[in-house]
Amino acid sequence: MESVQAIKQRFEIIGNDVKLNRAIEKSIQVAPTDISVLVTGESGVGKEAMPKIIHALSHRKHAKYIAVNCGAIPEGTIDSELFGHEKGAFTGATATRSGYFEVADGGTIFLDEVGELPLTTQVRLLRVLENGEFLKVGSSQVQKTDVRIVAATNVNMFEAIKKEKFREDLYYRLSTVEINIPPLRDRKDDIHLLFRKFASDFGQKYKMPTIRLEEDAVELLLKYRWPGNIRQLRNIAEQISVLEEQRSINFATLNGYLPNASGSNLPAVIKQERKESEFSNEREILYKVLFDMKGDLNDLKKLTLELLKNNDTEKVQEENENLIRKIYGKDDSEDYSEAEEQSSELEVLSLPEPKMESPTPSPKSVQEDKYHFAEEIEEEETLSLHEKEIELIKKSLERNKGKRKAAAAELGISERTLYRKIKQYNL
Ligand SMILES: Nc1ncnc2c1ncn2[C@@H]1O[C@H](COP(=O)(O)OP(=O)(O)OP(=O)(O)O)[C@@H](O)[C@H]1O
Ligand SMILES: [Mg+2]
Repeated sequence: MESVQAIKQRFEIIGNDVKLNRAIEKSIQVAPTDISVLVTGESGVGKEAMPKIIHALSHRKHAKYIAVNCGAIPEGTIDSELFGHEKGAFTGATATRSGYFEVADGGTIFLDEVGELPLTTQVRLLRVLENGEFLKVGSSQVQKTDVRIVAATNVNMFEAIKKEKFREDLYYRLSTVEINIPPLRDRKDDIHLLFRKFASDFGQKYKMPTIRLEEDAVELLLKYRWPGNIRQLRNIAEQISVLEEQRSINFATLNGYLPNASGSNLPAVIKQERKESEFSNEREILYKVLFDMKGDLNDLKKLTLELLKNNDTEKVQEENENLIRKIYGKDDSEDYSEAEEQSSELEVLSLPEPKMESPTPSPKSVQEDKYHFAEEIEEEETLSLHEKEIELIKKSLERNKGKRKAAAAELGISERTLYRKIKQYNL
């Protein structure tokens, strides 16, 4: 059996905390079995490494490993993503498609943010866990699969069960073994170690001298609450590495990068555990953003169509003045920016690559059949938001010669949100 140290090296896990070591040890121990594992812990603590370890050390290692972010897939498409669909099962299902449970046969599926699964999907999942059986959407033919499930959540599952948002029987099925990753603030000895590692990585990446923390800055680093855990620590190490000319970082400089820690030696209490009411809002916020974007895209499509039909740009501008103001107007962009900020924790737009094809109607077919057009774009837009967003960001960055501030202003989002998206999409 590989040692905890060897696994840490192989998976680039930094830290010597006893609870972290125990979590890795548990992953090594359960790997050769087919036991379902639930990884728990706050956002950004490093849950994603555990299912990778489990898969890599299991007899399934040569088969597929598929990671699914359940919280990022719209409710309407998640069954089809997971279990596949038959041709004609719904508008836009132009061909039969295999879902992850079919593709990963013999392998492992990592269900991230499993607490976000809709109840109907939970029923299907329970059935697969119990006897390996599932049905494609729109099919009555039972299919078999042999998949090992590792799930993760950063929400309190007991609360979700109490509120009847998560099935108790499924919870017990999923959590035969539970692996908990402690928050960073409880791993005091690892905090500076991780910071030094990230500082050194970013120094190399950006070909700059490695930043170094002065003594009082180290103290602040250890006292801070780190609500975003290692992900936040890494981001801050990167920001400071890139933005600070002075490579020796003092208390005041570090303080400036830590949200809600400003002005005091003892950082203020940051947002406590997220309130229950906020969780119930997450899906609503997600839909709001999707619907807002969908509205904008519809407007843009209308405008593009006008431009395609009519070569006279000025005339199109005149005739569509209201529409143009609605799309590019100040008020709208501010709304968008606000929604973006609110949802920044949710990675709302990190939708998976669209798998289903839905042809864009030609202008001709649009003229012939308006209703057909409306149906088609509904399906297509839900699935390609992610691509459209990447395209928008790329174009804006090009137009602004890589200047993030200008690009963010143009896109109507904050610089921080843009920075996060550039990282998220590897742009
Ligand atoms: N011990 C560690 N050593 C080095 N990097 C780490 C460690 N733990 C986490 N990271 C890094 O921190 C980031 C966040 O980790 P990860 O994505 O696994 O968080 P998570 O627990 O899945 O959070 P969420 O619940 O928000 O999905 C990743 O970039 C990961 O590589
Ligand atoms: Mg994660």
